[in-house]
Amino acid sequence: MDLSITVNGMKFPNPFLLGSGPPGTNARVIAKSYDAGWGGAVAKTVSLESAKVVNVVPRYGKLRSKVSGEVIGFENIELISDRPIDVWLDEFRQLKKEYPHHILIASIMEEYEKGRWQELTRLVQDTGVDAFELNFSCPHGMTERKMGSEMGEHPDLTEEVTGWVTEVSKIPVWAKMTPNITNIKEPSHAAVRGGAVGVSAINTILSVIGVDLNTLRPMPTVEGHTVPGGYSSQAVRPIALRMVSQLALSLPKEVSISGIGGIESSHDALEFMLLGSSTVQLCTGVMLHGVKMIDELRDGLEKFMTDKGFASVEEIVGKSLTYFSTHMDLVQKMKAAKRTKAGEASRDNEWAQKDITEKTAELTSN
Ligand SMILES: Cc1cc2nc3c(=O)[nH]c(=O)nc-3n(C[C@H](O)[C@H](O)[C@H](O)COP(=O)(O)O)c2cc1C
Repeated sequence: MDLSITVNGMKFPNPFLLGSGPPGTNARVIAKSYDAGWGGAVAKTVSLESAKVVNVVPRYGKLRSKVSGEVIGFENIELISDRPIDVWLDEFRQLKKEYPHHILIASIMEEYEKGRWQELTRLVQDTGVDAFELNFSCPHGMTERKMGSEMGEHPDLTEEVTGWVTEVSKIPVWAKMTPNITNIKEPSHAAVRGGAVGVSAINTILSVIGVDLNTLRPMPTVEGHTVPGGYSSQAVRPIALRMVSQLALSLPKEVSISGIGGIESSHDALEFMLLGSSTVQLCTGVMLHGVKMIDELRDGLEKFMTDKGFASVEEIVGKSLTYFSTHMDLVQKMKAAKRTKAGEASRDNEWAQKDITEKTAELTSN
Protein backbone atom coordinates (compact mmCIF):
# COMPACT_ATOMS: atom_id res chain seq x y z
CA MET A 1 0.00 0.00 0.00
CA ASP A 2 1.20 3.53 -0.80
CA LEU A 3 1.87 5.29 2.52
CA SER A 4 3.54 8.32 0.96
CA ILE A 5 2.41 11.88 1.49
CA THR A 6 3.54 15.10 -0.18
CA VAL A 7 3.90 18.02 2.20
CA ASN A 8 5.09 21.49 1.14
CA GLY A 9 6.33 19.92 -2.10
CA MET A 10 8.35 17.21 -0.31
CA LYS A 11 7.40 13.57 -0.94
CA PHE A 12 7.71 11.57 2.28
CA PRO A 13 7.74 7.75 1.73
CA ASN A 14 5.56 7.60 4.86
CA PRO A 15 4.48 10.22 7.42
CA PHE A 16 6.72 8.93 10.25
CA LEU A 17 9.77 11.08 11.10
CA LEU A 18 12.42 10.95 13.77
CA GLY A 19 11.94 14.02 15.96
CA SER A 20 14.92 16.28 16.67
CA GLY A 21 16.91 14.85 19.58
CA PRO A 22 18.98 11.74 20.34
CA PRO A 23 17.34 9.68 17.52
CA GLY A 24 18.94 12.10 15.02
CA THR A 25 22.21 12.66 16.83
CA ASN A 26 24.49 11.99 13.80
CA ALA A 27 24.44 10.75 10.20
CA ARG A 28 25.04 7.14 11.20
CA VAL A 29 21.91 6.84 13.34
CA ILE A 30 19.82 8.75 10.80
CA ALA A 31 20.99 6.40 8.02
CA LYS A 32 20.06 3.41 10.19
CA SER A 33 16.56 4.79 10.65
CA TYR A 34 16.18 5.32 6.88
CA ASP A 35 17.27 1.71 6.37
CA ALA A 36 14.71 0.62 8.95
CA GLY A 37 11.97 2.35 6.93
CA TRP A 38 11.37 5.77 8.47
CA GLY A 39 9.96 8.35 6.07
CA GLY A 40 12.30 11.11 7.17
CA ALA A 41 14.29 12.62 10.00
CA VAL A 42 14.68 15.94 11.73
CA ALA A 43 18.31 16.01 12.82
CA LYS A 44 19.40 17.13 16.27
CA THR A 45 19.37 20.95 16.45
CA VAL A 46 22.59 22.59 15.23
CA SER A 47 24.05 26.06 15.84
CA LEU A 48 27.17 27.90 14.63
CA GLU A 49 29.25 27.49 17.80
CA SER A 50 29.09 24.05 19.33
CA ALA A 51 31.82 24.95 21.85
CA LYS A 52 29.21 26.99 23.73
CA VAL A 53 27.06 23.87 24.19
CA VAL A 54 28.11 21.84 27.24
CA ASN A 55 25.87 18.99 28.35
CA VAL A 56 25.56 17.60 31.89
CA VAL A 57 25.23 14.04 33.24
CA PRO A 58 22.76 12.74 34.28
CA ARG A 59 20.33 14.70 32.15
CA TYR A 60 17.24 12.48 31.98
CA GLY A 61 14.57 11.54 34.53
CA LYS A 62 11.62 9.14 34.21
CA LEU A 63 8.10 9.04 35.58
CA ARG A 64 6.85 5.46 35.80
CA SER A 65 3.39 3.97 36.12
CA LYS A 66 2.91 2.88 39.77
CA VAL A 67 1.23 -0.29 38.54
CA SER A 68 3.29 -1.56 35.60
CA GLY A 69 6.54 0.37 35.91
CA GLU A 70 6.14 1.51 32.29
CA VAL A 71 7.68 4.90 31.51
CA ILE A 72 4.87 7.40 30.97
CA GLY A 73 6.72 10.68 31.45
CA PHE A 74 10.30 11.72 30.68
CA GLU A 75 12.26 14.83 31.61
CA ASN A 76 15.47 15.99 29.95
CA ILE A 77 17.87 18.85 30.56
CA GLU A 78 19.79 18.11 27.36
CA LEU A 79 20.95 20.99 25.18
CA ILE A 80 21.13 21.13 21.37
CA SER A 81 23.93 19.33 19.48
CA ASP A 82 27.44 19.78 20.86
CA ARG A 83 29.00 18.57 17.57
CA PRO A 84 30.85 21.13 15.39
CA ILE A 85 28.85 22.67 12.53
CA ASP A 86 31.48 21.62 9.95
CA VAL A 87 31.01 17.99 10.92
CA TRP A 88 27.26 18.39 10.56
CA LEU A 89 27.55 20.06 7.16
CA ASP A 90 29.61 17.12 5.87
CA GLU A 91 27.11 14.65 7.31
CA PHE A 92 24.07 16.43 5.82
CA ARG A 93 25.79 16.31 2.41
CA GLN A 94 26.67 12.65 2.77
CA LEU A 95 23.12 11.70 3.88
CA LYS A 96 21.50 13.48 0.96
CA LYS A 97 23.91 11.78 -1.43
CA GLU A 98 23.25 8.31 -0.06
CA TYR A 99 19.52 8.71 0.62
CA PRO A 100 18.18 11.13 -2.01
CA HIS A 101 14.59 9.91 -1.59
CA HIS A 102 14.41 10.16 2.18
CA ILE A 103 13.53 13.52 3.63
CA LEU A 104 16.17 15.22 5.75
CA ILE A 105 15.13 18.24 7.77
CA ALA A 106 17.75 20.36 9.50
CA SER A 107 16.79 21.82 12.86
CA ILE A 108 18.57 25.12 13.44
CA MET A 109 18.88 27.54 16.35
CA GLU A 110 20.93 30.67 16.90
CA GLU A 111 21.25 33.71 19.10
CA TYR A 112 19.05 36.75 18.48
CA GLU A 113 21.14 38.20 15.65
CA LYS A 114 20.12 38.40 12.00
CA GLY A 115 23.63 37.77 10.62
CA ARG A 116 24.05 34.58 12.62
CA TRP A 117 20.66 33.13 11.63
CA GLN A 118 21.22 33.94 7.97
CA GLU A 119 24.77 32.54 7.96
CA LEU A 120 23.55 29.28 9.50
CA THR A 121 20.65 29.10 7.03
CA ARG A 122 22.97 29.55 4.02
CA LEU A 123 25.58 27.08 5.24
CA VAL A 124 23.04 24.34 5.95
CA GLN A 125 20.97 25.01 2.83
CA ASP A 126 24.03 24.51 0.62
CA THR A 127 24.31 20.90 1.80
CA GLY A 128 21.07 19.97 0.01
CA VAL A 129 18.81 19.30 3.03
CA ASP A 130 15.12 19.28 2.12
CA ALA A 131 13.75 21.73 4.68
CA PHE A 132 14.43 23.67 7.86
CA GLU A 133 12.81 23.32 11.24
CA LEU A 134 13.46 26.44 13.34
CA ASN A 135 13.92 25.51 16.97
CA PHE A 136 11.98 28.23 18.82
CA SER A 137 11.12 25.85 21.56
CA CYS A 138 13.80 24.14 23.68
CA PRO A 139 12.74 25.22 27.17
CA HIS A 140 15.97 25.01 29.17
CA GLY A 141 19.66 25.86 29.04
CA MET A 142 19.69 27.67 25.71
CA THR A 143 17.13 30.15 27.03
CA GLU A 144 19.86 31.53 29.29
CA ARG A 145 21.44 32.74 26.01
CA LYS A 146 18.02 34.03 24.80
CA MET A 147 17.66 31.10 22.39
CA GLY A 148 15.04 28.39 21.91
CA SER A 149 11.74 28.92 23.69
CA GLU A 150 12.74 32.50 24.48
CA MET A 151 11.85 33.12 20.83
CA GLY A 152 8.75 30.91 20.70
CA GLU A 153 7.33 32.57 23.81
CA HIS A 154 7.45 35.99 22.19
CA PRO A 155 5.43 36.11 18.95
CA ASP A 156 7.12 39.33 17.79
CA LEU A 157 10.51 37.59 17.94
CA THR A 158 9.09 34.44 16.32
CA GLU A 159 7.90 36.47 13.34
CA GLU A 160 11.08 38.50 13.05
CA VAL A 161 13.48 35.56 13.24
CA THR A 162 11.38 33.43 10.86
CA GLY A 163 11.53 36.38 8.46
CA TRP A 164 15.35 36.45 8.67
CA VAL A 165 15.48 32.79 7.68
CA THR A 166 12.86 32.91 4.92
CA GLU A 167 14.61 35.93 3.40
CA VAL A 168 17.55 33.69 2.44
CA SER A 169 16.03 30.20 2.44
CA LYS A 170 15.06 28.54 -0.85
CA ILE A 171 13.57 25.45 0.83
CA PRO A 172 10.46 25.00 3.03
CA VAL A 173 10.69 26.40 6.56
CA TRP A 174 8.82 24.86 9.48
CA ALA A 175 8.73 26.54 12.91
CA LYS A 176 8.81 24.29 15.99
CA MET A 177 6.65 25.67 18.75
CA THR A 178 6.93 25.60 22.51
CA PRO A 179 3.89 24.52 24.56
CA ASN A 180 5.08 26.72 27.44
CA ILE A 181 2.76 29.53 26.44
CA THR A 182 -0.90 30.27 27.09
CA ASN A 183 -2.02 30.46 23.48
CA ILE A 184 -0.04 28.31 21.01
CA LYS A 185 -1.86 30.00 18.13
CA GLU A 186 -0.15 33.35 18.65
CA PRO A 187 3.50 32.40 17.99
CA SER A 188 2.42 29.88 15.32
CA HIS A 189 0.52 32.50 13.34
CA ALA A 190 3.47 34.87 13.85
CA ALA A 191 5.81 32.27 12.30
CA VAL A 192 3.48 31.98 9.32
CA ARG A 193 3.48 35.77 8.94
CA GLY A 194 7.29 35.49 8.90
CA GLY A 195 7.08 33.06 5.98
CA ALA A 196 6.96 29.59 7.60
CA VAL A 197 5.00 27.06 5.53
CA GLY A 198 4.75 24.52 8.33
CA VAL A 199 4.47 24.33 12.10
CA SER A 200 5.84 21.52 14.27
CA ALA A 201 4.20 21.05 17.66
CA ILE A 202 5.03 20.42 20.40
CA ASN A 203 8.45 20.65 21.99
CA THR A 204 8.74 19.66 25.65
CA ILE A 205 6.79 21.07 28.60
CA LEU A 206 8.74 22.69 31.44
CA SER A 207 8.80 20.28 34.36
CA VAL A 208 10.44 18.91 37.51
CA ILE A 209 10.23 15.11 37.31
CA GLY A 210 10.42 14.48 41.08
CA VAL A 211 12.29 14.86 44.35
CA ASP A 212 14.48 12.16 45.96
CA LEU A 213 13.06 11.76 49.46
CA ASN A 214 16.35 10.39 50.80
CA THR A 215 18.59 13.22 49.64
CA LEU A 216 15.84 15.88 49.38
CA ARG A 217 17.29 16.75 45.95
CA PRO A 218 15.05 17.49 42.96
CA MET A 219 15.86 15.36 39.90
CA PRO A 220 17.71 14.91 37.61
CA THR A 221 20.42 15.78 40.14
CA VAL A 222 23.77 17.08 38.86
CA GLU A 223 26.32 17.53 41.67
CA GLY A 224 23.44 17.98 44.11
CA HIS A 225 21.50 20.52 42.06
CA THR A 226 19.05 20.70 39.15
CA VAL A 227 17.16 23.00 36.78
CA PRO A 228 13.61 22.53 35.46
CA GLY A 229 13.69 20.58 32.19
CA GLY A 230 11.55 19.50 29.26
CA TYR A 231 8.77 16.92 29.76
CA SER A 232 7.93 14.45 26.99
CA SER A 233 6.61 10.90 26.43
CA GLN A 234 3.07 9.53 26.72
CA ALA A 235 1.92 11.87 29.47
CA VAL A 236 2.19 14.95 27.24
CA ARG A 237 0.17 13.49 24.37
CA PRO A 238 -3.25 14.92 25.34
CA ILE A 239 -1.76 18.40 25.64
CA ALA A 240 -0.03 18.04 22.28
CA LEU A 241 -3.23 16.77 20.66
CA ARG A 242 -5.14 19.76 21.98
CA MET A 243 -2.53 22.19 20.67
CA VAL A 244 -2.34 20.50 17.26
CA SER A 245 -6.12 20.62 16.93
CA GLN A 246 -6.16 24.33 17.82
CA LEU A 247 -3.51 24.98 15.19
CA ALA A 248 -5.25 22.92 12.53
CA LEU A 249 -8.53 24.72 13.14
CA SER A 250 -6.96 28.17 12.93
CA LEU A 251 -4.01 28.11 10.50
CA PRO A 252 -4.46 28.65 6.75
CA LYS A 253 -5.10 25.31 5.00
CA GLU A 254 -1.81 25.42 3.06
CA VAL A 255 0.27 25.52 6.27
CA SER A 256 1.33 21.99 7.20
CA ILE A 257 1.47 20.62 10.74
CA SER A 258 3.98 18.09 12.00
CA GLY A 259 2.51 16.54 15.16
CA ILE A 260 4.81 15.68 18.06
CA GLY A 261 4.40 14.62 21.68
CA GLY A 262 4.12 11.21 23.30
CA ILE A 263 3.68 9.17 20.12
CA GLU A 264 4.63 5.52 20.68
CA SER A 265 2.35 3.58 18.34
CA SER A 266 0.36 3.81 15.11
CA HIS A 267 -2.71 4.43 17.26
CA ASP A 268 -1.12 7.54 18.79
CA ALA A 269 0.16 8.73 15.39
CA LEU A 270 -3.26 8.35 13.80
CA GLU A 271 -4.79 10.54 16.51
CA PHE A 272 -2.40 13.34 15.54
CA MET A 273 -3.15 12.84 11.84
CA LEU A 274 -6.90 12.87 12.36
CA LEU A 275 -6.47 16.19 14.17
CA GLY A 276 -4.56 17.78 11.31
CA SER A 277 -0.94 16.55 11.24
CA SER A 278 0.30 15.53 7.81
CA THR A 279 3.51 14.15 9.32
CA VAL A 280 4.31 13.02 12.88
CA GLN A 281 7.58 12.97 14.78
CA LEU A 282 8.78 10.60 17.50
CA CYS A 283 11.64 11.29 19.89
CA THR A 284 11.29 9.79 23.39
CA GLY A 285 9.43 6.76 22.03
CA VAL A 286 12.42 5.92 19.81
CA MET A 287 14.84 6.51 22.71
CA LEU A 288 12.92 4.00 24.84
CA HIS A 289 11.91 1.40 22.24
CA GLY A 290 14.34 1.72 19.30
CA VAL A 291 14.03 2.46 15.58
CA LYS A 292 12.29 -0.87 14.86
CA MET A 293 9.10 0.81 16.10
CA ILE A 294 8.63 1.87 12.49
CA ASP A 295 7.36 -1.63 11.62
CA GLU A 296 4.32 -1.31 13.90
CA LEU A 297 3.76 2.32 12.82
CA ARG A 298 3.59 1.39 9.14
CA ASP A 299 1.60 -1.82 9.66
CA GLY A 300 -0.90 -0.05 11.91
CA LEU A 301 -1.40 2.79 9.44
CA GLU A 302 -1.89 0.34 6.60
CA LYS A 303 -4.42 -1.70 8.56
CA PHE A 304 -6.33 1.42 9.59
CA MET A 305 -6.51 2.62 5.98
CA THR A 306 -7.76 -0.78 4.80
CA ASP A 307 -10.30 -1.13 7.62
CA LYS A 308 -11.67 2.39 7.25
CA GLY A 309 -11.46 2.62 3.47
CA PHE A 310 -8.91 5.44 3.17
CA ALA A 311 -7.24 5.43 -0.27
CA SER A 312 -4.40 7.79 0.67
CA VAL A 313 -2.67 9.07 3.79
CA GLU A 314 -3.69 12.58 2.84
CA GLU A 315 -7.38 11.72 3.27
CA ILE A 316 -6.84 10.98 6.97
CA VAL A 317 -5.33 14.39 7.76
CA GLY A 318 -7.75 16.54 9.76
CA LYS A 319 -10.67 14.13 9.35
CA SER A 320 -11.75 14.45 13.03
CA LEU A 321 -11.53 18.23 13.28
CA THR A 322 -15.14 18.65 12.32
CA TYR A 323 -16.18 17.08 15.63
CA PHE A 324 -14.92 19.95 17.80
CA SER A 325 -17.60 22.30 18.99
CA THR A 326 -18.53 24.55 21.93
CA HIS A 327 -19.85 23.47 25.32
CA MET A 328 -23.12 25.28 24.61
CA ASP A 329 -23.50 23.31 21.39
CA LEU A 330 -22.87 19.99 23.20
CA VAL A 331 -25.69 20.82 25.60
CA GLN A 332 -27.97 21.65 22.68
CA LYS A 333 -27.04 18.40 20.97
CA MET A 334 -27.71 16.43 24.17
CA LYS A 335 -31.09 18.08 24.51
CA ALA A 336 -31.91 17.26 20.93
CA ALA A 337 -30.90 13.66 21.60
CA LYS A 338 -33.05 13.74 24.79
CA ARG A 339 -30.09 12.77 26.98
CA THR A 340 -30.36 15.72 29.35
CA LYS A 341 -31.56 13.36 32.06
CA ALA A 342 -28.17 11.63 32.07
CA GLY A 343 -26.49 14.99 32.55
CA GLU A 344 -28.85 16.05 35.30
CA ALA A 345 -28.53 12.73 37.07
CA SER A 346 -24.94 13.58 37.81
CA ARG A 347 -26.03 16.30 40.22
CA ASP A 348 -25.95 16.51 44.02
CA ASN A 349 -27.85 13.39 45.18
CA GLU A 350 -26.00 11.04 42.93
CA TRP A 351 -22.63 12.44 43.95
CA ALA A 352 -23.57 11.95 47.62
CA GLN A 353 -24.88 8.42 47.16
CA LYS A 354 -22.10 6.96 45.07
CA ASP A 355 -18.39 6.57 45.61
CA ILE A 356 -16.51 9.29 43.70
CA THR A 357 -14.51 6.71 41.72
CA GLU A 358 -17.79 5.16 40.54
CA LYS A 359 -19.11 8.57 39.44
CA THR A 360 -15.86 9.33 37.64
CA ALA A 361 -16.13 6.06 35.70
CA GLU A 362 -19.76 6.82 34.82
CA LEU A 363 -18.84 10.20 33.32
CA THR A 364 -15.82 8.93 31.36
CA SER A 365 -16.03 8.07 27.68
CA ASN A 366 -13.21 5.56 27.28
C1 LIG B 1 16.57 13.99 25.26
C2 LIG B 1 15.81 14.91 24.35
C3 LIG B 1 16.52 15.82 23.56
C4 LIG B 1 15.82 16.68 22.71
N1 LIG B 1 16.52 17.56 21.91
C5 LIG B 1 15.85 18.36 21.03
C6 LIG B 1 16.57 19.19 20.13
O1 LIG B 1 17.80 19.23 20.09
N2 LIG B 1 15.83 19.98 19.30
C7 LIG B 1 14.46 19.98 19.29
O2 LIG B 1 13.85 20.71 18.50
N3 LIG B 1 13.77 19.17 20.13
C8 LIG B 1 14.42 18.37 20.98
N4 LIG B 1 13.72 17.53 21.81
C9 LIG B 1 12.23 17.57 21.80
C10 LIG B 1 11.63 16.47 20.93
O3 LIG B 1 12.00 16.59 19.58
C11 LIG B 1 10.07 16.47 21.02
O4 LIG B 1 9.58 17.72 20.55
C12 LIG B 1 9.55 16.25 22.43
O5 LIG B 1 10.38 15.40 23.17
C13 LIG B 1 8.13 15.66 22.45
O6 LIG B 1 8.04 14.49 21.69
P1 LIG B 1 8.24 12.99 22.27
O7 LIG B 1 7.25 12.80 23.39
O8 LIG B 1 8.01 12.08 21.09
O9 LIG B 1 9.65 12.93 22.76
C14 LIG B 1 14.40 16.65 22.67
C15 LIG B 1 13.71 15.73 23.46
C16 LIG B 1 14.39 14.86 24.29
C17 LIG B 1 13.61 13.88 25.13
